[in-house]
Amino acid sequence: MKIFRIMVAGVVLVARSMIASEDPPPEHVQLMKDLGKQMGEMRKGVNVDGNATAMADTLKKVAAFWKGRNSEIAMQSCRTTRRGAVAVSKAAGDKAAIAEGMKMIGAGCKGCHDQHREKLTVDGKEVNKIK
Ligand code: HEC
Repeated sequence: MKIFRIMVAGVVLVARSMIASEDPPPEHVQLMKDLGKQMGEMRKGVNVDGNATAMADTLKKVAAFWKGRNSEIAMQSCRTTRRGAVAVSKAAGDKAAIAEGMKMIGAGCKGCHDQHREKLTVDGKEVNKIK
């Protein structure tokens, strides 16, 4: 009986993982690459204001993509990330304000990634999916 339950659980898991993840459309991948680049430069202190402003704008497009997908977590993550980016863009060199904004950005990216990003390794390469 126990074995049977474990087998059923296994089949359900496999089925769910097959239905649940999908290849992201190219425009979503591009938005993520833009965010990754903006984040990388901000962390290095490169053009912090400009990247924060661009990030806030990118987040609007990310939010538009997720709007139709019925995920409160995704929308909340977009809002948090965007609020952080706006805070950094207005920080005018205030280090504490920048650090605070960066924290919000980090939490926002992570919030959505934890829920919706699936990272697989296929033939030794990283493959990103939406789940
Ligand atoms: C609303 C959800 C959401 C938010 C917010 C979000 N991401 Fe993503 N991200 C995803 C999903 C889903 C994937 C996997 C699918 C893909 O790659 O498009 C992903 C993938 C990525 C990738 C890999 C792209 C690739 O294929 O090369 C990077 C880099 C990335 N995100 C950076 C960020 C950064 C930095 C932030 C915050 C500034 C962020 N993301 C915020 C959902 C989100």
